[in-house]
Amino acid sequence: MRHARLIAMAICGALSLGWGQGAFAQSAEDIKKGIDQYREMLQDGNPADLTVAKGEGLWKKKQGPHDASLEQCDLGKGPGVVAGAYAELPRYFADTGRVMDAESRIVHCIAVLQGRDATALAAKPFSGGGQPQTELESLVAYIVDESRGVPVNLPQQHPEEIASYQRGEKAFFYRAGPYDFACASCHSVDDQRIRLQELPNLTEAESAQRAFTTWPAYRVSQGAMRTMQWRMYDCFRQQRFPEMIYGSQVSIDLITFLGVKAKGAPMDSPAIKR
Ligand code: HEC
Repeated sequence: MRHARLIAMAICGALSLGWGQGAFAQSAEDIKKGIDQYREMLQDGNPADLTVAKGEGLWKKKQGPHDASLEQCDLGKGPGVVAGAYAELPRYFADTGRVMDAESRIVHCIAVLQGRDATALAAKPFSGGGQPQTELESLVAYIVDESRGVPVNLPQQHPEEIASYQRGEKAFFYRAGPYDFACASCHSVDDQRIRLQELPNLTEAESAQRAFTTWPAYRVSQGAMRTMQWRMYDCFRQQRFPEMIYGSQVSIDLITFLGVKAKGAPMDSPAIKR
């Protein structure tokens, strides 16, 4: 029932978007309102809820050579503490000597606690079109959902945490590639858009907050929940940069940069995006 309603709303949304594109009488402001309305309608029935449930099951399931669950994973607030952990990631971990985001930390826990080949999992982190959500996507969905409503508060005390922010900032403004694009080329101006998509000015606290607190998100256009690492991966592609490696330092540093800027805003993920 809920599913049927969702599909109906998605179709209405798609129609009104198509209408927006074709009808010259509609202003950009009307179109923006339409998209916002469509997002709101979808918000009370998020298909990502299923992925959250799947992730919780996987988190608690004993598997791998050590026949262990992930429940003792230390996500930064101590072993076994999941609630509120995502809102403080990326952060420094003494056991690995580096700053890690939620996704690289989950990969680490799968390797250490379960003794599984996490490199193989990380090599294919995102589900393909029409495929079920991957184990990593599901685990991330569960972890982030456990921070809903918790204000973003990335620690910036350890020198490595400060260094991660600084590298992230540098990466954000670094221009290269065939078009000489930086993240900043698309994301440091107000009211810029590609086709109908707004390009948030991520150098501003408010936009950085909206972006950070609403990823991971269920993407209606892809029929799948996507993680923050996926968001970075896809923007590297849009920037015509070499393919981003899942969990690479630059991806973590960019997420740190956004997360520090987003301080104070309550997490609201998994959200719904067009
Ligand atoms: C060629 C333009 C372009 C470049 C360069 C680019 N992006 Fe994006 N970015 C986009 C588009 C388009 C979207 C999606 C907007 C949508 O779907 O509504 C987006 C969305 C995002 C979002 C999600 C915002 C939200 O509120 O949901 C984040 C975060 C982001 N980009 C970060 C980055 C980072 C970090 C870089 C540099 C590695 C980067 N982008 C480079 C075009 C770009």
